[in-house]
Amino acid sequence: MADVKALYSDYVKTLETYIMFRIAQETTRLTPELTKKGRAPIKLSMGAPAQRPPEFVINALTKAMETDSMHTYSSTKGEMFFLEAVAERMKKRFGVDIDPKTEVFSLIGSKEGLANMFRTIVNPTLNEKEQDIIMIPDPGYASYKEQIKVIGGYAYSIPLTRENNYMPDMEEVLAQLEKDGFSKDKVKAVVVNYPNNPLGATATLDYLKSVVEFCLKHNYLLVSDVAYADMFFGGEEAPHSIFEVEGAKDIAIEFHSFSKPYAMTGWRVGWACGNADAVSILGKLKSTVDTGVFKAIQKASAEILVSKEGDEYIEKSNKNYEIKQKIITDGFRELGWDIDSMNIPKATFYLWLPIPKKYKTSVEFCQDILEKSGIVLVPGSGFGRYGEGFFRLSFVASDDNLREVIKRMKEDGFYFDK
Ligand SMILES: Cc1ncc(COP(=O)(O)O)c(C=O)c1O
Repeated sequence: MADVKALYSDYVKTLETYIMFRIAQETTRLTPELTKKGRAPIKLSMGAPAQRPPEFVINALTKAMETDSMHTYSSTKGEMFFLEAVAERMKKRFGVDIDPKTEVFSLIGSKEGLANMFRTIVNPTLNEKEQDIIMIPDPGYASYKEQIKVIGGYAYSIPLTRENNYMPDMEEVLAQLEKDGFSKDKVKAVVVNYPNNPLGATATLDYLKSVVEFCLKHNYLLVSDVAYADMFFGGEEAPHSIFEVEGAKDIAIEFHSFSKPYAMTGWRVGWACGNADAVSILGKLKSTVDTGVFKAIQKASAEILVSKEGDEYIEKSNKNYEIKQKIITDGFRELGWDIDSMNIPKATFYLWLPIPKKYKTSVEFCQDILEKSGIVLVPGSGFGRYGEGFFRLSFVASDDNLREVIKRMKEDGFYFDK
């Protein structure tokens, strides 16, 4: 009898099914039953915009596809027109100088870029005592931990709590790491993600400065994930690039994405930029694994990045998200959540709220509200151990569906109990 499972490596054996797939499977399983009782699922679980990308970028892609030279292999690094558009964008949006020749690399989405970046610095081992450490935000994007685990590294949690205003003192976190029995010499990198998924929390430039200083002092690679940099609300300080901090380029690499600002999640395109050595080693690794992004996609992406249509699209969708945030926060206030004492996010399309006290775990609450009301949420524990007791809601659904969520919760008795 063949046994393919016996061939799996010890690294992949420990992988867990990505939380979003698990939720999607469970939702599909329950859909017929929920639909029958008038509770067809409303998905507030996806970290993805629901609207159509800008017409401008769709037209640019269609046009690019007509050009024969667009259909051949790209260089892994990215075509010069793409790299130059990135440099122009970095200058215009953040006031940062980036050399398109040596400091930018195209990515098949920032998720791919992050995973490969981690691979360039971690020496794989399954022996926990020997493992290289990458410090990651907790709660944080669920992929970081699994990406690090599968390459035989250790993901150490940087606790993001209301008490530390989601901007913890990194020297204190490092002291805690040593108290927990780890060696600070094993730390290779620190990941920062502002605006944060799932919290929606943003960071001040002063805080980013302190993290740069911390990483320079200890020689830890600073990995900045700014997938949500352009998703912020009117009147708020625009989220920063790490390179707005002087000296950051000596130690940092930053990951950018087209997915969220332009609703281009399926296009799979992004970029890494910053420290030339980090960019170069990431590129070297990637050139053994993939052959870059479809040139027509690079062309259309380059055009939207520096266009006024792109900026107008972002501004308009941020206004829409602000309206949606108000619908949902007003609704949760009526349901008893003490919204006004919480930090309402100034960025992203997420809301991070405590579960009602009668539930022991966030999984229990999310399963109950899915089964009874067809409302799909993500349990906070999926984002790390500091996420327990909370859930994440993405207000990417239509305004009507958001109102329907509140209506169902009232009808089905999902109130906040103090
Ligand atoms: C914090 C964060 N980083 C990176 C990504 C990956 O985005 P993409 O691979 O589409 O660029 C996501 C997607 O949800 C995210 O939430």
